[in-house]
Amino acid sequence: MIWILLLYVAAVLASPLKGDTHDLKDFLVSSLPGLYSNIPKGEVPLMFAGQLELYPENNTHYFFWKFSDKHKVPEAQNRTIFWLNGGPGCSSMDGALMEAGPFRINHNQEVTYNPGLWHKAGDIVFVDQPAGTGFSYTDEYDHDLDQITWEFLRFLERFYEMFPEDADNDIYFAGESYAGQYIPYIVDRILKHNKGSVKPYNVKGLLIGNGWISPNEQSLSYLPFSVQAGLINSDNPQWSRLLTQHEHCQKIVNNIDATFDGKLHDYEVSSGTCEGILNLILSATRDKANPEAECVNMYDFTLRDSYPSCGMNWPPDLDTVKPFLNDDSVKAQINLQNAKAWHECSGNVGKHFKARNSVPAIHLLPGILEEVEVVLFNGNRDIICNYMGTESMIKKLTWGGKRGFSDPESSLDWIHNGSVAGYIQSERNLTFVNVFDASHMVPFDVPEVSRALIDLVTHNFDTDEKVVGGETKGQVKTFPLGERQAREAKKVEAKPTTSATTASTTSYPSAAYSSYPLEASDSDSDSDDEHPQESTSRITRLIQLLVIAVLIWGVIALYNSYRSRPTSIIKTRPNSGRKKNVQWADQLRQFQEDNDIPQQGILSKALNKLKRSDGRGTYAPTASDDIELQSQNTDDFVISSDEETPK
Ligand SMILES: *[C@@H]1O[C@H](CO)[C@@H](O)[C@H](O)[C@H]1NC(C)=O
Repeated sequence: MIWILLLYVAAVLASPLKGDTHDLKDFLVSSLPGLYSNIPKGEVPLMFAGQLELYPENNTHYFFWKFSDKHKVPEAQNRTIFWLNGGPGCSSMDGALMEAGPFRINHNQEVTYNPGLWHKAGDIVFVDQPAGTGFSYTDEYDHDLDQITWEFLRFLERFYEMFPEDADNDIYFAGESYAGQYIPYIVDRILKHNKGSVKPYNVKGLLIGNGWISPNEQSLSYLPFSVQAGLINSDNPQWSRLLTQHEHCQKIVNNIDATFDGKLHDYEVSSGTCEGILNLILSATRDKANPEAECVNMYDFTLRDSYPSCGMNWPPDLDTVKPFLNDDSVKAQINLQNAKAWHECSGNVGKHFKARNSVPAIHLLPGILEEVEVVLFNGNRDIICNYMGTESMIKKLTWGGKRGFSDPESSLDWIHNGSVAGYIQSERNLTFVNVFDASHMVPFDVPEVSRALIDLVTHNFDTDEKVVGGETKGQVKTFPLGERQAREAKKVEAKPTTSATTASTTSYPSAAYSSYPLEASDSDSDSDDEHPQESTSRITRLIQLLVIAVLIWGVIALYNSYRSRPTSIIKTRPNSGRKKNVQWADQLRQFQEDNDIPQQGILSKALNKLKRSDGRGTYAPTASDDIELQSQNTDDFVISSDEETPK
């Protein structure tokens, strides 16, 4: 009797609140190899990590790793970013240790400092999901995006039980690749949850990098992108095959466009035909004389890889991240209860998941955009989820009562810390960013620039314009962390009421990014009222307006001449100056019937980077027509800029 009483007392003492209360200190991460020797003093983040129980009945636990800056800038104080990698089934430890997290792993398997530091712009939480991914585990795998979505909401519930002080924070979702499906699904569900809830989640923005959002439409960009990148041309022996496959995919897309009714149709979700295009391109870029670099890396066309990996061995950091996460002492330090082996991508998750049970996430975007800002960014070197696919997807998307951007041919330069980082289009809560010199994993290549993407979604930037070669070009300017706030604070102190200052720093010219030069002169005219002596500048502006009108007329004329061509053409911006202008449409007419085309789901495999242990057969190489390319001239690979150097 006394024993029972003692046990009871002990139990009560051990768990003062609930049966399964998470003691925060059980999730604290206070040591890691290299943490105190390699990370600058005072820069060691506050970290919590561990496997959070979601459903005891089927043993489902989600692993998360949360990073907070110890001395937060004001805007980071009430901001939480959830980061999800793709797959399906790839661990967000890619994001934590190779991309947006504060650490990289060196060759001694120690943490080192990453200059990207997203956690300084807001707490960032990397979540291994769905169940079975990375260090998350379960007895029951998910089959579709709806299940994954419900599970994530359960995770959020548990997460905020642990961190109630974060409950009022603004929430941002960020992620990459297949997270282009996860994130819209999750946010759509959250917005529905919010409608009837006394405790809504404050979702403020989405940042989707090289997202796989509209699979078939995006597949249609493989050929034009590869031609523009100089990877392939009409002399290639595979050319007519590629065109045929492209045309088959075009028919599917036309069918989708003609019939979309929000329901699941097999032709939309079984995209083997469209995916086959990438397969053919990878096979057509083979150079058998060069086995270590036999084909192009599908995540970064400036790199090559052995065949048939074509990028699946990339990025090189995997070589250190993998042993780091599989080290027993590290597993103890990140509080694993279940010390399962870490794989970058889980075959089991991929195997159980059936994309055909869920309508592609593109159909959820218009509803989300009514309530939340969405930034779609693309590293310009990626093939598999390339920027041209995102652009053409946006062109077809109707949101905010209109279709596409009002002027798809105009864009703003993105200047980060004084250098051109990419270009931007933005309207009606949707922003597209093409990030220069970056691969499928943008924060891997340009960590500091990638951190400034948060400034784009939170409107922490200046706008400006610059005359380049007689053309007025709008600019969006972002700055190193905290710099803009510091400057703004000083300005306010120095001259509290300067209308010119406010005009140049208004947050978002959101209604009309593309007609930005006009918009800018409008807002400037407010200040003109206060400074009548500036009327000469009005005349200058009038002349500018005339020039712009003539330019617009020219663009429209050009556009009309383009329009008569097949819908699959993805134009390049003639004014970007950073890309070759490729018009391959005429060749589309030379179709030959050829149905002997591999239709395996290479894409789903490549997105989750499944590797066979024998290193072969990860996708279906064409058997009979392996081709020898001429020796590759590296000049062929330059599309984006003169200063671009292959890694
Ligand atoms: C953009 O989002 C805001 C909420 O953040 C909403 O009030 C507004 O209506 C949205 N705009 C459009 C065009 O949907």
